[in-house]
Amino acid sequence: MTSRFQAETGIPNGAVPLVELRHCTMEFPGVRALDNVNFTLMPGECHGLVGENGAGKSTLSKCITGENHMTKGELFIEGRKVRLSGYSIHESQRLGIQVVHQEFQLMSEMTGLENIFIGHYARRGGLIDWKALTKKARELMDFLQCDVNLSVPVRYLRTAEKQIIQLAKAVQAESKVLILDELTAVLQEKDILNIFRIIGILKAKGMGIVYISHRLNEIFECCDSYTVLCDGRHIHSGNVRDIDKKELIKMIIGRELTQVYPPMNRRFGDVMLEVKGLTAPKAFRDINFYVRSGEVIGLAGLVGAGKTELVQAIFGTHPLTGGKIFIKGKEVTIKNPRHAIMLGLGYVPDERRTLGLNMKFDIKENTVLPSMSRFRKFKLFQDHRAEAQAAYDINEKLELNYYSLWQSVEKLSGGNQQKIVIAKWMLRNSEIFLLDEPTRGIDVGAKFEIYKLIDALTRQGKSVIMVSPELEELIGLCNRIYILYEGSIMDIVEGERKTQEVIISSLLGVKEK
Ligand SMILES: Nc1ncnc2c1ncn2[C@@H]1O[C@H](COP(=O)(O)OP(=O)(O)OP(=O)(O)O)[C@@H](O)[C@H]1O
Ligand SMILES: [Mg+2]
Repeated sequence: MTSRFQAETGIPNGAVPLVELRHCTMEFPGVRALDNVNFTLMPGECHGLVGENGAGKSTLSKCITGENHMTKGELFIEGRKVRLSGYSIHESQRLGIQVVHQEFQLMSEMTGLENIFIGHYARRGGLIDWKALTKKARELMDFLQCDVNLSVPVRYLRTAEKQIIQLAKAVQAESKVLILDELTAVLQEKDILNIFRIIGILKAKGMGIVYISHRLNEIFECCDSYTVLCDGRHIHSGNVRDIDKKELIKMIIGRELTQVYPPMNRRFGDVMLEVKGLTAPKAFRDINFYVRSGEVIGLAGLVGAGKTELVQAIFGTHPLTGGKIFIKGKEVTIKNPRHAIMLGLGYVPDERRTLGLNMKFDIKENTVLPSMSRFRKFKLFQDHRAEAQAAYDINEKLELNYYSLWQSVEKLSGGNQQKIVIAKWMLRNSEIFLLDEPTRGIDVGAKFEIYKLIDALTRQGKSVIMVSPELEELIGLCNRIYILYEGSIMDIVEGERKTQEVIISSLLGVKEK
């Protein structure tokens, strides 16, 4: 007797694909983002979509949702050909397609509750039935097993919490296809496992999930199949169980990646920055740490542990109520970011679109912005040629995927935007770098370039303070890791104790010997 299911995939035999893209080409002015790509998503399948920054992953997902109008090609939803001329995001939602975008698409002044149900408000007698919506939201949060305050404007929420709201918004509607574009880039191990759990439930209901991520371990943990894109072209599709991580990396970057982390610098100089008893209400309290010249220190902690607020406080954007900051042994009161920059600090924030870049500016302007004074001739004229050369050099080093320095950063892929935020502080020649999730959304090949740059900084005697949700990255790069738990330093991990097990237990508030 033949099985109703294909061996091991769990996909019913003869099932009609939920989504099928045939020969999809997408051209933007000057860029062919997708070139004759085929893509199929089956019911009950989690399909990993991978590729370098700018490979076309988000573009492909937007062709499915109708946000992009493909230049050529065909789209079939549940076997029915879609008339592309009238196809839009509203139409795709009507057909059961939901997406969580890589960049936040929330109304920042509205509450979580309003954001989740926007466009689907339950009404009673013509009025919005808030009681019913609140009940529905509570059920939704129970299902997601997440605890996010839904009654405050989302601009007050943390990055990871906003991401949960985006997810809640996508799963609340009865949908058949869910596209997750780098949902987990801002999440911690614990939350990611929760996402996998949710994906498992949705798959069992017969939904199809398109899963975009640069964290390749996740592809092996939760995807059934994969598709690799490279420069807008379809490289390969197959079953995840037939390949290993090394093979996948090779397909993505076109070569083998033999070394992931550069050997750590161990020649340290004087203490560059030290904080003592740093306290900010509701964020962190009594924080003590130091970083020497040539050293990378890591800050780890679950969402809400206070890491982002801590680096923001050092950069002068989060108010402090107590404690002292010393730079090169001298006590300083950092009033604002301008002051912090003057003191030699550089800051790569976790939210690049709102804090890291000026979306109205082009690549060159964004890159040279904090270093403008370096390019002033006779203190009078701006040397635009030197600016452009410097911007070119640093962005080439970071393997930025672009066609002109004068193109707007708005249209760049997410990972390429992130590279520019890093480039601008590298160019500024800061002495102490505060990096809040610097490799978020960065592809596997370019991550290595960033690691090499961090290493090069330390060898020039610079200091780096780094926040990352990826423990592997912290272990590979940091000389010392400070673990925050509910606003306090729970543990300092270095040497032989620098293992995933020790760090995870400290993250959860249990200190191991
Ligand atoms: N609206 C747009 N206008 C012009 N070019 C665009 C637009 N959207 C995307 N592109 C270009 O299309 C290419 C593919 O971008 P896309 O965002 O799909 O990449 P991606 O694979 O999602 O990358 P990442 O991993 O960095 O998110 C890039 O070269 C990008 O600059
Ligand atoms: Mg993308």
